[in-house]
Amino acid sequence: MTPQVALDVSPLSTLIGNSPAMRQVHRLVMRIGRSQFPVLILGETGTGKEVVARAIHNMEARGPFVVVDCSSLVGPLMESELFGYAKGAFTGAHTQKLGLLDAANGGTAFFDEIGELPLEMQMKLLRVLQQKEFRAVGSVAQRTSNFRVIAATNRNLAEEVKANRFRQDLYYRLNVIRLRLAPLRERAEDIPALVTYFLERYGNGHKATTELLSILQQYDWPGNVRELEHTVQRMIAMNSGPWLTPADLPNTVMVDQQKFLAATGQSSSHPVSLPSADSSNGVMPLAELEKRAILSALEYTKGDRTVAAAMLGIGRTTLYRKLKEYGL
Ligand SMILES: Nc1ncnc2c1ncn2[C@@H]1O[C@H](COP(=O)(O)OP(=O)(O)OP(=O)(O)O)[C@@H](O)[C@H]1O
Ligand SMILES: [Mg+2]
Repeated sequence: MTPQVALDVSPLSTLIGNSPAMRQVHRLVMRIGRSQFPVLILGETGTGKEVVARAIHNMEARGPFVVVDCSSLVGPLMESELFGYAKGAFTGAHTQKLGLLDAANGGTAFFDEIGELPLEMQMKLLRVLQQKEFRAVGSVAQRTSNFRVIAATNRNLAEEVKANRFRQDLYYRLNVIRLRLAPLRERAEDIPALVTYFLERYGNGHKATTELLSILQQYDWPGNVRELEHTVQRMIAMNSGPWLTPADLPNTVMVDQQKFLAATGQSSSHPVSLPSADSSNGVMPLAELEKRAILSALEYTKGDRTVAAAMLGIGRTTLYRKLKEYGL
């Protein structure tokens, strides 16, 4: 029997990206994964804070990973959510209920959007982190729970502390190891790998042309990896494939591309540049070839479709049909 090839099941395999910034993240995750220190993850929305938190947790792979969404911990129910409640604690509390902190026992509590936690809850959380002890609502008995703390926010917590919106003592408590995730626009070299990953994950044999990849690398992705993921999903949903080209891009990315071309003084009459080389194997799909031929004919004739059709050796109606087909 041939020996089985070990599958890459490292938690790091879910963290796509080979930019210096991502490699640094990989190193940190590896180094801190097996420790029990609190980790504070900072980064804009959609940069992968939760993916990184899960990877850190999975390095040790024991116990549950419990997400505490701090932005939803508001109002009268927040304490019982976190700490649980005793039977009869309030009207409707017919049985005892365990809280999220109980659930995290032996694993990781991931405090997502920690910057949104109201001040009074910050104080209560600090006490729990110091003593690992808390009381369920309506109960006098102390409960203990042992969990690793990972917190994340897209706010500048140091600024929040200065503005007295975040407790300094809690900040120090959480900020033992800090990990900052760079926005996607600062690591555009990760985009091709991310796109390939999402195509494999959601696609049906879909592939991206090199032009598409280069346009995706020029866009500034305010919603970061999540926006890229949604863009790829949308393109897959709208196209049977296999090749996805710049013409398949949704308008948001397209408009930006037009701006880019205008700013760099290139023609913005159509968003596709016509580089001579394509994918690594040097083979270009016929549809892609056809599309490029049409585009360059139109460019040459400055948009005159009758002449372009003649140059291409096809009838005018065929040209119109193909323009529509390719969304040109
Ligand atoms: N490095 C990465 N490799 C693979 N997928 C990623 C990576 N970074 C982010 N993603 C994907 O992007 C999406 C957003 O990631 P995540 O939810 O971790 O972001 P976030 O920083 O927590 O965002 P928010 O601040 O909005 O909560 C997820 O679907 C995630 O799988
Ligand atoms: Mg998140």
